[in-house]
Amino acid sequence: PEPGWQTETDVVIVGSGIAGLSTALHYVRHSPEGRVVLVTKDVLSTGSTRWAQGGIAAAVDPGDAPLAHMVDTVEAGAGLCDPLAVRTLVTEGPDALRWLIGLGAAFDRTDDGELALTREGGHRADRIAHAGGDATGAEIQRALIAAVRAEPRIEVIEHALALDALLGHPGGDEDLVESVCGVTLHVMGEGQRDGVGAVRSRAVVLATGGMGQVFAATTNPGVSTGDGVALAARAGARLADLEFVQFHPTVLWLGPDARGQQPLVSEAVRGEGAFLVDAEGRRFMEGVHELADLAPRDVVAGEIARAMADTGTDHVYLDARGFGEQKWQRRFPTILAGCREHGVDPVRELIPVAPAAHYASGGVEVDLDGRTSVAGLFAVGEAARTGVHGANRLASNSLLEGLVFADRIAAALASGLPEPVEPAARQDRAAGLVAPEAVPGLRAAMSRNVGVLRSARSLSEAASALEAVAVGERAAAPGVESWEATNLFTVAWLLVAAARRRRESRGSHRRADRPESLPHLRRPLVLELSEEGID
Ligand code: SIN
Repeated sequence: PEPGWQTETDVVIVGSGIAGLSTALHYVRHSPEGRVVLVTKDVLSTGSTRWAQGGIAAAVDPGDAPLAHMVDTVEAGAGLCDPLAVRTLVTEGPDALRWLIGLGAAFDRTDDGELALTREGGHRADRIAHAGGDATGAEIQRALIAAVRAEPRIEVIEHALALDALLGHPGGDEDLVESVCGVTLHVMGEGQRDGVGAVRSRAVVLATGGMGQVFAATTNPGVSTGDGVALAARAGARLADLEFVQFHPTVLWLGPDARGQQPLVSEAVRGEGAFLVDAEGRRFMEGVHELADLAPRDVVAGEIARAMADTGTDHVYLDARGFGEQKWQRRFPTILAGCREHGVDPVRELIPVAPAAHYASGGVEVDLDGRTSVAGLFAVGEAARTGVHGANRLASNSLLEGLVFADRIAAALASGLPEPVEPAARQDRAAGLVAPEAVPGLRAAMSRNVGVLRSARSLSEAASALEAVAVGERAAAPGVESWEATNLFTVAWLLVAAARRRRESRGSHRRADRPESLPHLRRPLVLELSEEGID
């Protein structure tokens, strides 16, 4: 669609979780004259960050070390982490956490005033800082939003869905490869800037979070529809590791028909001593991994799937009755309230849990300063693939990744913005919009066929379901719902293509028909969207 209004800035940041808000704050800190427009699809506080429970991992305890954090991260990543990216994450992590504390985020403290640290799956040390017991993300989001609201050089546009990158050839020379020079937006009900408009800029940073909404049941909020990954794909950016969707092992089980965002039961509950049992009361994680119930997340989710199949059930149980009321109230007040709201009293009862889609370990391929393969386009946080997560993200490394790489992108941009580029006259790239009515079927097909356990057959069924959407539903009227549906379809299609190409089991990509990991596939699979399809 033609933009009806236009504005201009140095840097557009799309998304308002920890990654987007931190990038904006660091950019104005590094660049004394710098200006940012931060756009968010809903309001500033809507996004995955505020749902984070367990916390943020960093080697800040005197008995811990960044190298030990690196070893755990790389082991969880099942052979696919980029060592340089992980080293950057773990060595810059402690300062990133201190920056957040300096900004006013109030983390839980011990009686001696030190940071209270807990443990989650795959960690061999207590290195997870938390706030409000189990409301870490909400506190981080609060502190970051207050800082952004207080900064006049950050302009916020809410209710603004990013549609596509504006592309142009440097100097108008069509022989030169295209650069990103802004973004088109669909703004809903924001006065002067209502409807479709454009923000011209020297750089665009995608901080749009995850894509959990391509599945029927997920821990992700409704806004996590893969918008940034789809936008980057349409702009020609390279994508990697999309097959590695992390399924959180312990999501409160609300029945076989539960749909949409589901309540999380943090891994920190197991970190503090709770354990899993199957329908027959058997502790099935014992003897499976040296860390038992605290094995990396892919191992636990895989074993839950096996336990459910063995006992013919669709959930298992978490036993945290040993905590008692007081510890539940002090340490996990949000989870306690959430369970009770759904009729489960975890002080006295087993908690029914099952895995659900939680985190995209892959995304838009970037370098250590967040640059994608398209000039002028950057990505950070869950939308990006830095290489720190490999085939399976280590618990509580995601908030940290957002913080660390936000600072690096901001510093790189402040030391030299890309050259200004005029947008080309023709910009339309979407082949047709997917009707919102297709989304429930798409989600059901993804959950049925591309979940914790996959096979060549299930992936081919998913591909057929997506083909049917592609053929039947691509003529919807423009609007936010049809753009979101289009983005969901695009990321689902890319995800299935990536999963079909990885003919092995590795990390969170588990194939019943190919249970082994293959040495020659110990490398990321990179995809690009082209006019012919997926390369
Ligand atoms: C949790 O609290 O279990 C989630 C932490 C994470 O996804 O890193």
